[in-house]
Amino acid sequence: MKKFLKTKNIKNILEIGCGPYCTLSISLKKLFPNIEFTALEIDKDKLKNAIKTRQKNKIKVDIFYSDLFSEVNKTYDIIFMNPPYIPSRFEKQIVDNSNPELNFKEWESGHSNEDGLEVINNLLKDSKNYLNDNGFFIMGINNYFISNFKLISLFKKFEFNLLEKFKKQKECIPKGNYSQVYTLNIK
Ligand SMILES: C[S@@+](CC[C@H](N)C(=O)[O-])C[C@H]1O[C@@H](n2cnc3c(N)ncnc32)[C@H](O)[C@@H]1O
Repeated sequence: MKKFLKTKNIKNILEIGCGPYCTLSISLKKLFPNIEFTALEIDKDKLKNAIKTRQKNKIKVDIFYSDLFSEVNKTYDIIFMNPPYIPSRFEKQIVDNSNPELNFKEWESGHSNEDGLEVINNLLKDSKNYLNDNGFFIMGINNYFISNFKLISLFKKFEFNLLEKFKKQKECIPKGNYSQVYTLNIK
C-alpha cells in the first residue's frame, strides 16, 4: 500500500471496517499527511475504541459508524477493506481448536456467513458507486478460506479488473502463502 500511494496521485481514501485500533488508516495518515483518510466500522465497541486510538495519536482521520456504505455520501480515490471472509463451516475447528493452525482471534474478527462471501459480494456490488473515476478498490483476503479462483469469478461478475495481487508480508494463519492483497479498478 505504501509503495502504491507513493506512485499515484491519491487525494482521499476510505477504509471500511477499521477495527478497534484503526491501525491501517492511522499509520498511513502518519506517512501521508496530505491524503484525507476516512474510516468506518459497524461494531460500536470497536468504533469507540478506534476513536480513542485516534485521539491518543492526535491524528486527523474521520471515523464514523456505517454498515458498509450505509452512511457514506461521497466518493474516494481508494476504498479498501480487510473484510470478514471465514466461512461459518470453519467455526467448530477454530473455536474448539481442533485445527491448531487456526486460532480463535482470527474467528472473532473475520467470520462471515456460510460461504464467507456475504460482505465481499456486497462490497464489490456497491463500491463502484463510491469510487472516483480511475479509483482503486483494495481488499485483503486469505486464500485458505476463499480461493483465488472464486475471487476472480466475482471480480468478473461485478466488472472489476484485477490490476495486482501481492502476498501480505505479515504472518499468516494458517502458515503458508494464503494472505493476499488484491488491487482492482472498474472496467
Ligand atoms: C478482518 S477485520 C479487519 C480489521 C482491521 N481493518 C484490520 O485490518 O486489522 C474486519 C472488520 O470489519 C468490520 N465489519 C464487518 N462487517 C462490516 C460492515 N458491514 N460494515 C462495516 N464494517 C464491518 C468488523 O467489525 C471488523 O472490525
